[in-house]
Amino acid sequence: MTNTNSNINTHSVDVKLTNLLKVFPSHNGGDNFYAVDDIELDIKAGELVTLLGPSGCGKTTTLRMLAGFELPTSGSIHIGDENVTNVPPNKRNVAMVFQSYALFPHLSVFENIAYGLRINKVPKGDVIDRTYKVISLMHLEEFKDRLPSQLSGGQQQRVALARAIVTEPKVLLFDEPLSNLDAKLREYMRDELRKIQQRLGITSLYVTHDQTEAMAISDKVVIMNHGKIQQADSPINIYTKPNNHFVAGFMGKANFLHGVVKELKNNMAMINIFGKSVLIRINDKVKLTENGPVECVTRPEFWEFSDTGKFIGQVTRTIYLGNHVEYEIAIGDDTISMMDFEHFKHGIKQEGDQVTLHLKEECVSLLPTRKEYIKEGLA
Ligand SMILES: Nc1ncnc2c1ncn2[C@@H]1O[C@H](COP(=O)(O)OP(=O)(O)O)[C@@H](O)[C@H]1O
Ligand SMILES: [Mg+2]
Repeated sequence: MTNTNSNINTHSVDVKLTNLLKVFPSHNGGDNFYAVDDIELDIKAGELVTLLGPSGCGKTTTLRMLAGFELPTSGSIHIGDENVTNVPPNKRNVAMVFQSYALFPHLSVFENIAYGLRINKVPKGDVIDRTYKVISLMHLEEFKDRLPSQLSGGQQQRVALARAIVTEPKVLLFDEPLSNLDAKLREYMRDELRKIQQRLGITSLYVTHDQTEAMAISDKVVIMNHGKIQQADSPINIYTKPNNHFVAGFMGKANFLHGVVKELKNNMAMINIFGKSVLIRINDKVKLTENGPVECVTRPEFWEFSDTGKFIGQVTRTIYLGNHVEYEIAIGDDTISMMDFEHFKHGIKQEGDQVTLHLKEECVSLLPTRKEYIKEGLA
């Protein structure tokens, strides 16, 4: 597919990682280290896919293998129809944007952006033409003659992105590009970056450890832990239908409640939580047996104050956050966290208050037991 939006030509291609493995040899005679442990990933043409996971889980290593800076121990990488596993980085037509911007300090904004075209021996006239197009796309006109040191962090990151897209790469890679920016600017840049990526339709792999960022910009989020993919899915499926305990806890806040299965009927399970019966939809990730244990994920917003609710609790902590109030509430021997977005209606509860709570049972998801996902090699 060829996109000619904004007069910048890009060719959207699929990317495919197959059985990708990266093992770093031990330096002290200990075990080798599996930084990326047999991952499979498809990125469709024009999609933005995000790798999300804790520090050290293998995100950057995966990105560096796709860029060609790191050779896989085994497995293959395809960009479009081409197997690029052993192709050097400068022949892959991939561009990368880093957290540190990596701009040339002695070159102007214009020359920083033009650099990639000049070293590729693009004819002079075309260099000027293409550089101006990207400068205009990124709204950098007024800064074009400045040095990087004369720009704010956000402006430098726009130059870094401009420099990446000017070469019309087949794939754009981002390694925590917004981590150096303050919260407000990070949000703004995140939305800008997504708009430009969508407008140009460049297939992109984005790395972050920030779950909100991942949710906001991605077509697909890939949750990684210890070098393994835990779940690759749309943001909504990751949040509402997590594969396992790790995913549920990493994406958003979760109260993990231990229930006992009382009855299984069709696609529903009657489950006992805190001595009350709740009716929860079964998913195919979990094998349930009557009278067996099950782990239930309830998010803070699945709970609400309601006089007709089944659960009685006591407020142990109140945190007022303006648009909502967060509470910790003791129920039985457990403590759940809940969010109330309707505090104008309910008032603000105080520590020690007794409250009646309704659980939105239709939202609750069930998880496989720890044993089951150890068996699948995900722990
Ligand atoms: N060149 C290397 N030699 C040995 N270990 C490495 C090397 N590069 C990365 N690692 C290890 O691989 C793991 C994954 O690293 P990385 O991909 O950078 O994680 P992330 O980007 O998710 O924080 C880390 O434990 C890191 O220490
Ligand atoms: Mg990293």
